[in-house]
Amino acid sequence: MEKLVITGKTPLKGEVTISGAKNAAVAILPATLLIDGVCTIENLPNISDVKKSCEILEGLGAKITWNTKNEITIDTRNINKTEASEELTSKFRASYYIIGSMLGRTGKISVGMPGGCQLGARPIDQHIKGFEALGAKVEVGQGKISASAEKLVGTSIYMDVVSVGATINVMFAAIGAEGTTVIENAAMEPEIVNVASFLINMGAKIRGAGTKRIEIEGKCPLDEGVIEVFPDRIESGTYIIIGALLGNNLKIKGIIREHIESLLIKLKEIGVHYEIDGDTLTISKCEHIKPTYIKTLAFPGFPTDLQQPITTLLTQANGRSIIEETIYENRFKNTVELNKMGADTKVLSIHKLEVNGPTKLNGMDVTATDLRGGASLLIAALIAEGKTNIDNSEYILRGYGDVINKLKNVGAKIEITE
Ligand code: EPU
Repeated sequence: MEKLVITGKTPLKGEVTISGAKNAAVAILPATLLIDGVCTIENLPNISDVKKSCEILEGLGAKITWNTKNEITIDTRNINKTEASEELTSKFRASYYIIGSMLGRTGKISVGMPGGCQLGARPIDQHIKGFEALGAKVEVGQGKISASAEKLVGTSIYMDVVSVGATINVMFAAIGAEGTTVIENAAMEPEIVNVASFLINMGAKIRGAGTKRIEIEGKCPLDEGVIEVFPDRIESGTYIIIGALLGNNLKIKGIIREHIESLLIKLKEIGVHYEIDGDTLTISKCEHIKPTYIKTLAFPGFPTDLQQPITTLLTQANGRSIIEETIYENRFKNTVELNKMGADTKVLSIHKLEVNGPTKLNGMDVTATDLRGGASLLIAALIAEGKTNIDNSEYILRGYGDVINKLKNVGAKIEITE
């Protein structure tokens, strides 16, 4: 088990460059299964979920060459298996994309039940509903999901729940279906646009990605292609929050303003100042943070993935804040650890959290329980008095590329130990 050791309270100055988006990368990698050729993916984040996705693809017969630390070439001409490693697929959530992409490619696949952070019930019924509507037979049991189809046929699918994963996965399967598929009540997250752009560049006919209605014309011949993963909006938001607490003209480079507008406006509301010039945001420590009300929503609403990081910021606000988490039913586990460090938070219900501030945080031994909860502890450790050891730091490394070097380079005292 790896441990992050952080000594808090050092001001952060210099520049942090944002990596490629985790949730776009883990979808673009399996999207390469939809073509029979060689694709190049640029700006991949240096995170464990990307490495696991690559291993799964290799297990199916893909040949992967790392051109640089952040760029790969994938040759999918020899995909020769229809069973993905159960051990690997059960380790992270986004492995579910193998189902849609292999259905789209060969019409047959079996994977282990997707794993991932425990954030309450995370069913994949909308993925399955979409695959079945297209004509696939899906079986779930004994820790496995198997899907097969003689033929997929385009149809209209209404998503009962707005889900990034289900929208992308059904889009993948629809690429291999005859005729037109319409996804109604699709998720609108920017990651969907990045993945769809890749497929469109390769020859797919997809209209409406980034809106509530996506139309896919199946069976278009797909060619080889290149895609650049765009910057991670959640990583951007996390460093902006860190800057609001410790920045001394901290520069965050690689932001796409429209992807993080809900956070930027919220920060302005609570008194945090920043400047944006092109793709760089400059931020300094905010001395007077106002309490607020935050409700997490699907894009363009306030992202659930920044809910836990901003909780730490609100421990430093003057008064009582309320956070309403509407996407997940168990995304407050981090608050037990934050309270150990001196925060005053109270879970009012599975969807509601109260945060009272300002509170002085103290360095402590704490444990990350999930990825973004881990990020909230990392932020807390950076502002705490003394030394904090964060156990289970693998969770943080799953989603934040080069986090140790990035923070060290701007002045943080952070190390990793076994
Ligand atoms: N849901 C269903 N049925 C489905 C799919 C989802 O009911 O078939 C519900 C879940 O129960 C949950 C909500 O929809 O209440 C979101 O579910 P899920 O975690 O499956 O969402 P997703 O859209 O696949 C992506 C990101 C998450 C991010 C959410 C919301 C990936 C790989 N994951 O998940 O990222 O929280 O969108 O924006 O893209 C993270 O990066 O830390 C993370 C958890």
